Amino acid sequence: MIKKQILGLLLGVILQTTSVWAQNKTKYTAVSLDKKVSALVKKMTLEEKIGQLNQYNGFWDVTGPKPQEGKAAKKYEDLKKGYVGSMLNVKGVKDVRALQKIAVEETRLGIPLLFGFDVIHGYKTISPIPLAESASWDLEAIKASAAMAAEEAGAVGINWTFAPMVDVGRDARWGRVMEGAGEDPYLGSLIAKARIEGFQGDFSSNKNILACAKHFAGYAFSEAGRDYNTVDIGEAVLHNIVLPPFKAAVEAGVLSFMNSFNELNGVPATGNPYLQRKILKGDWAFPGFVVSDWGSILEMQNHGYAKDLKQSAEFAINAGSDMDMESYAYIDHLAELVREGKVKESLIDDAAKRILRTKFLLGLFDDPYKYCDEAHEAATVGKSEFQNTVLDMAKKSIVLLKNTNDLLPLQKSGKKIALIGALAADKTSPLGNWRLAADENTAVSLLEGMKTYSGNELTYAQGALVVTEQPKFPFEALVNTTDKSGFQEAIDLAKKADVVVMVLGEHGMQSGEARSRADIGLPGVQQELLEAVYAVNKNIVLVLQNGRPLAIPWADENIPSIVEAWQLGTQSGNAIAQVLYGDYNPSGKLPMTFPRNVGQVPIYYNHKNTGRPYALDPGTVFWSHYNDEKNAPLYPFGFGLSYAKFEYSDMKLSAATFKSNEKIEVSVTVTNSGKVAGKEVVQLYIRDLVATGTRPVLELKGFEMIELQPNESKKVSFTIDEKLLEFYSANNKWETEKGDFKVFVGGNSAQTLQADFQLVQ
Ligand code: NOJ
Repeated sequence: MIKKQILGLLLGVILQTTSVWAQNKTKYTAVSLDKKVSALVKKMTLEEKIGQLNQYNGFWDVTGPKPQEGKAAKKYEDLKKGYVGSMLNVKGVKDVRALQKIAVEETRLGIPLLFGFDVIHGYKTISPIPLAESASWDLEAIKASAAMAAEEAGAVGINWTFAPMVDVGRDARWGRVMEGAGEDPYLGSLIAKARIEGFQGDFSSNKNILACAKHFAGYAFSEAGRDYNTVDIGEAVLHNIVLPPFKAAVEAGVLSFMNSFNELNGVPATGNPYLQRKILKGDWAFPGFVVSDWGSILEMQNHGYAKDLKQSAEFAINAGSDMDMESYAYIDHLAELVREGKVKESLIDDAAKRILRTKFLLGLFDDPYKYCDEAHEAATVGKSEFQNTVLDMAKKSIVLLKNTNDLLPLQKSGKKIALIGALAADKTSPLGNWRLAADENTAVSLLEGMKTYSGNELTYAQGALVVTEQPKFPFEALVNTTDKSGFQEAIDLAKKADVVVMVLGEHGMQSGEARSRADIGLPGVQQELLEAVYAVNKNIVLVLQNGRPLAIPWADENIPSIVEAWQLGTQSGNAIAQVLYGDYNPSGKLPMTFPRNVGQVPIYYNHKNTGRPYALDPGTVFWSHYNDEKNAPLYPFGFGLSYAKFEYSDMKLSAATFKSNEKIEVSVTVTNSGKVAGKEVVQLYIRDLVATGTRPVLELKGFEMIELQPNESKKVSFTIDEKLLEFYSANNKWETEKGDFKVFVGGNSAQTLQADFQLVQ
């Protein structure tokens, strides 16, 4: 097993060297790097090696007086002994430099530290939440957004972000869907790659930081959408749905992984050798290291898997978790476990080597203060160019869900517009939950964005609060379920207006970690407010701000225009205003299905057909359905409108059958029959009709973004080959089975043209 591991590791380094590292400016070859790392590890005591595996949180005044007691004193002492490999949550050049100086100048071997931080969608300048960015389907923009975040974070001393989260999520109740790329493994894999390339670049400068693919694995499949809950999924879902973005992350050159809080099929992910040793480090030859999630080693006791912290440490290291985030399990118990023979020292060496190799590749051994330049920090944090990046990303993330009466785009003059909703003036909520370093009140609100258009008469009323008070980390967001005192003012303004723009949805602190919701409608009294305003003025544009798909069937039925504006970050209000006024034509497409009703969740486009997809005798009950709700979603995966109008026609296949070594081409013509130019994401799906393991009714396999002028048509083609049809089969391997397939092309997963083809012997 261990031999296989080492071989896998060497292979990983070689693969990385020939692929990703070939483009990088690293001065190391796989062999020279291995030599350096091995030579260093030979010099290290067991305790020093374990120290590299130890990560501490840094919430204390690191430049203040030496801490005298408690955990801070222990951390400080460990740091001085060289028993710490990484810190998290230390930011700012002054603080980072202070700790790096201890590691480099005061410890025996002077090994530099990694400084990790949750730079999830920006550091101080905030991009849209990752789910929103994913709605752009624009990989270059997503990469640029990650690169901006890396540049800003790198300037304050951070050299490692705990992003991207690549968990495929199907359950909108789970608050962390905001942090991922949605429900599709193919789109999720491409976005994982884009974000990793954006963060890591070629590691040549302090604008590039280490990325971390998380949470390995299955975290988004927590039962009932409740965060940290049990996960029980089969091999087919694990391999076909959950793992592909993680594999794509390895292929993109990511050098760290984070494991997850959940158990997977009875074994906590942190103590799971199948995930970490067999798949990640074995099959995929991942050359980087795995950090635990916060306290997840310790939590194996609560899972009922380890009897005490010492056993947690034993299980975690043996299973392949290389670094301990805040469990104190490795630092307190690993040396003893090695002496008792319960943990092989070679495993400690392997973990330490993985971490050290990453530090070499980041350039920290050449210059431990690479990320500690005060002048660069001052010139970089919040610099104005970043505003363009986040504004561009925010506009591209917006999804137009409905526009029946052409209320949108708004006329630019001569109209009375009433803006209603507490979120319209909220300058913090658009920053989302992961805004650890961004100050409150730093987002442009929609009220501010709308004011930049001065041709109309704009009035504003709050209508109703979403939360009763500004939520403070780490406490619950307390939803306003009673106070309707602002309704009347809103109704009065609406009566006098030509158009009402209502901004409703979730407070920024209602999604994210530990922010699961059992009811995913409009929170609190907002639905009532919407109906009360509608009673006096039906010309409503509903702007949704939220971190997850919402179930809003009444709004869909009654409100003429609906815009999905997520939590769009620092430039939120400007981006939305430009879309509402038609200065930017929306092109976003949903990366996650919107249900009609929370009872449909998990609802996702790539579901199975079941044995009873319809009633054999029309009108009878014995088929897979609800008796009080439709099966269909409110808005399907891939859905999003434009001010342009796209029509699909003329689907052609270059051949109806093809063999293993051949390819076929499928093409469609897309025409813009609208009055303005617009961008469209043309989507390719396939269905494998019969297989030894049942296949989904649709699987996204490609997409292309095109731009069309009014009356312009374009032929869009996709190539289908055997590889594209692969899946993780009942034989427990990736393979393609010959047989009948369908291919679909369209502007969303529910409206497509289709054709049949066969893969033959
Ligand atoms: C717990 C979260 O699950 C993880 O995503 C995050 O990176 C760590 N805390 C560190 O803050």
